[in-house]
Amino acid sequence: MKDNRKVVLIGTGMVGMSMAYSLMNTGGIDELVLIDIDEEKAKGEAMDLNHGLPYSMNKMVIKAGNYNECRDADIVVICAGANQKEGQTRLELTKVNTRIIKDISLKIKYSGFQGIVIVASNPVDILSYVVYKVMGIDKSKVIGTGTLLDTARMRYLLSEYLDVSSDDIEAYILGEHGDSSFISWMNTYVGCKTLIEYVEERNLDMNDLNEIYDDVKNAAYEIIERKKATYYGIGISLNKLILSIFNDTHKILCVSAYLEHEYKHGDIFIGVPCIICKEGIKEVVQLPLNGVDQAKFDDSYEILREIKREVKK
Ligand code: 2OP
Repeated sequence: MKDNRKVVLIGTGMVGMSMAYSLMNTGGIDELVLIDIDEEKAKGEAMDLNHGLPYSMNKMVIKAGNYNECRDADIVVICAGANQKEGQTRLELTKVNTRIIKDISLKIKYSGFQGIVIVASNPVDILSYVVYKVMGIDKSKVIGTGTLLDTARMRYLLSEYLDVSSDDIEAYILGEHGDSSFISWMNTYVGCKTLIEYVEERNLDMNDLNEIYDDVKNAAYEIIERKKATYYGIGISLNKLILSIFNDTHKILCVSAYLEHEYKHGDIFIGVPCIICKEGIKEVVQLPLNGVDQAKFDDSYEILREIKREVKK
């Protein structure tokens, strides 16, 4: 990667702009270019962010631009497309957003872009696959946000319930970023203990934990019902992913990655823990799954495979 850390954001809706605002606050990048089908909106957003820079600790160039800006960018983040409405599932956005994302992918490709693409638009697992196929780039260079936010939601709620810092909770939400995602309890840790051990020692109720997981699964529906959209959580999750790439952290994050044979499946993008480095995805981490968890993974895979088949037609 070069010295100038450049990110291009495509789609300046609330998700993209929450990411932009988060990056402005943490710093860690040098240049942020905003692209939107509504060019005036992108210009207005750039102006608004720039006016905050004198009070920010971090210097950076923020501007509106077009797809030529992707040519020398390190990371392009796709947040464009329709978002979930009340009562709608993420998968119901497939048709409308596939069309939009195909078009965007071609524009990125023809700019001569050589970097990493992050996809946040929903249904994120399906759209990551679309980007991968249309752009024809290496699988390590396409990362969907997948279950990154679900994992943060889980860690937050477990931290509240157990009264332990979320830094010390290792939890992995696997599968589709959607209704068929699941938590692997046997791979959940509090400090160096498994959550199951921890719960037994303290006579806590496993039913509470299952309820917490249901809250995670329903979180987006609950928020959308109340305020029409979710954006701060995913905004800071995108920030974490972007800085993990630039800083070559080798951090393990749950994201939507291309499977070749891991978890007994292939030719799909789905939420799994991955080691993140400056090249993108260094490795998919294979967690040991018991029969119940593997069956849940298989179900989630099947749901995505069906939709993927439709998209390919
Ligand atoms: C979320 O989980 C809607 O996918 C978005 O907040």
